[in-house]
Formats: sequence, C-alpha cells, structure tokens
Amino acid sequence: MTDAAHHSPIVRLAPAKLNLTLAVVGRRDDGFHDLHSVFVPLALHDVLTVAPAGTAGSDTLHVTGKDAGPVEANLVLRAISAARAAIGEGPGRPATPPLAARLEKRIPVAAGLGGGSSDAAAAIDAALEAWGAADALDPERRLAVAASVGSDAPFFLAGRPALIEGRGERVSPLTGIHGHPGILLVTPAVAVRTPDVFAVFDGSHAGSSGDGSVRMTSAHLAQELGNGLSATDLVARAGVLASANDLLASAALIAPGLAQVRRALTRLLARPIGLSGSGPTLWTLYPSLGEAQEAAVTVADGVADGTVPSIGDGPPSIIPTTIRTGQEGAPT
Ligand code: C5P
Repeated sequence: MTDAAHHSPIVRLAPAKLNLTLAVVGRRDDGFHDLHSVFVPLALHDVLTVAPAGTAGSDTLHVTGKDAGPVEANLVLRAISAARAAIGEGPGRPATPPLAARLEKRIPVAAGLGGGSSDAAAAIDAALEAWGAADALDPERRLAVAASVGSDAPFFLAGRPALIEGRGERVSPLTGIHGHPGILLVTPAVAVRTPDVFAVFDGSHAGSSGDGSVRMTSAHLAQELGNGLSATDLVARAGVLASANDLLASAALIAPGLAQVRRALTRLLARPIGLSGSGPTLWTLYPSLGEAQEAAVTVADGVADGTVPSIGDGPPSIIPTTIRTGQEGAPT
C-alpha cells in the first residue's frame, strides 16, 4: 500500500449520462434485462465531497440542491458500505473508518440521467482515496462493487462514451466524438421508476425484446463512435437516434403527458426529440452549447405560454449542457 489515508476532503464531479440508443435485447433469469446501449457522459454533474469522520460512528451524508429522497436510501451511502465490505478487514487490509459525505445534487433525480449511479461510482472512488486504499481493489473488483450498487454505475467508472451491454456491467469505451455537441435536456416534473417502465415493457413484449431495429441502430452507432464521429455527423443522425429507445412507448404509458411534451418540443424546436434511459428526460442534439442554450430560452418561453405542457408537479427543468466526448480533460 503506497497511498497514505487522506485527511483533507476528496472532491469528485459525478457527471450525468445520456443514452443515445437503448435496445432491450432480452429478459434475464435474474429479472434484469440485457441491453445494448450507447452511453455518453454529460458536462452536467453533481459534486461529491468525502472526508474521514473520525474512528467511531457511521458514515453520514448531507445533500443540498435537488431533493434526492431519504438519505438512508441514497446510493452514496450504499456505495461506501459496499466498497468497505469489498476491502474487508484483517492484517494488511487498509483501515476503512467512517466517512462524512456531502452531495450537491444538480442532476434531476429519477430522470433517466443516471445521477444516482454516477454519485455511487464517484463515492466508491472517493472512499477508496480517503482510506488510502486506491490499490486495494483492482479495476475488476471496483467494477463489481459498482455493479452491485446500480446497473448504470460501472459506466461511470470509465467516464467516457461507451457501449454498454449485459445489465450494465459490460463497458466498452468508444473513441468518441470530436468537437463539443450541445444537448438540451427537458425533464418533466414526473418521477419515473425504472422497474415500472421495464414491467410495462415486459407486459407488451411477452418478456422478450424490442423488434430489433433499435438494436441495429445501436450497433451501427457503436461502430461509428468506435472510429470517432464529429459533432456535426452526430447531429445529422439525431432523427434515427431519437427513435432508437425500446423503452419509449413504455415510459409514455407510465408518465401520462410525456408524449404530448415530446410532440410539443418537436414542433417548437423543429428537431428530433429523444428519450434518455427510462425517462422522463427528453433530449435534443445541437452542434454547440450556444445553440442548446438558445433552444433552452425558446423552451422556457414555450413553458411560460403553455405551448409546452407542464405535467406532474410543475414546470419541467430545462438544462442546456454538452456531451463529454472523451477528448477533454477534467469536466468543468
Ligand atoms: O440496477 P438498478 O437499481 O439501477 O435497476 C433498477 C431496476 O431497473 C431493476 O430492479 C430492474 O427492474 C430494472 N432494470 C432492468 N434491466 C437493467 C437495468 C435495470 O430490468 N439492465
């Protein structure tokens, strides 16, 4: 063990993700579904801070920003526990004292943006560093710990565009995207539980998979991103990508009004509108952040005058951001 335990706070940025494609390939015996999905990390992020909290007591978490639900159920605490259990106790094992974590929640919650899983991946990483235990878990075990906390968590350990297979544990990094495509995220104020969306999907597909067309689109995009794709070429594919999500129809059934919001945005922005993960976040691709920011103003005006319906608990959250392409340094 070369690392000494840290006494100053460890800060990690936990990015959101977007699914550019999401094919449901089949249902597994463990109740999860095998996927074929191209994930990209976004500049939008939560901020996690972790510091040793002394030698007695339990881990603590303090959340600010968006309401993330009860702290006890937060994946940050589960991730720290899982990392501690994976390290184990005994001679030669690094000490894993209690940690005090703070989370600044900026990513919409239960929105299809992977925020909880990203916080979990960041927590594993930060906890290991705080304990001076970065070498105690090899990449494979780190990935297994992440997968045990959330299906999307392994992706966030890679931190770059990737093809995701299995239930999320098979991560193949892709060369990625050249340039800085803008993304507009519109998240209606309805929480969508992923298990509910998969249950509706199973009901309508007799537990099998999508019709195969999304899988083909996903395979094609993965191949293109494997070679590297320009932002312009990615935007040119937005029409195909916006319908390349096998969970779209099921999410629309779980969240009444989602289809109307999507139609309203299509008309207002005159661009294809996709769904991230199991929703309810809708996305639009732009060649640059500036164009996504302009579109955000248009959508805010549309929400204000009722052109874009507010469903659920109030107006949608409207966030312009960029795709982290894997070509840049640390997120800003
Ligand atoms: O792993 P995570 O807690 O994020 O998954 C939430 C739920 O979503 C699972 O309990 C399962 O119902 C569903 N799911 C799935 N197949 C996946 C990922 C999630 O069926 N690949």
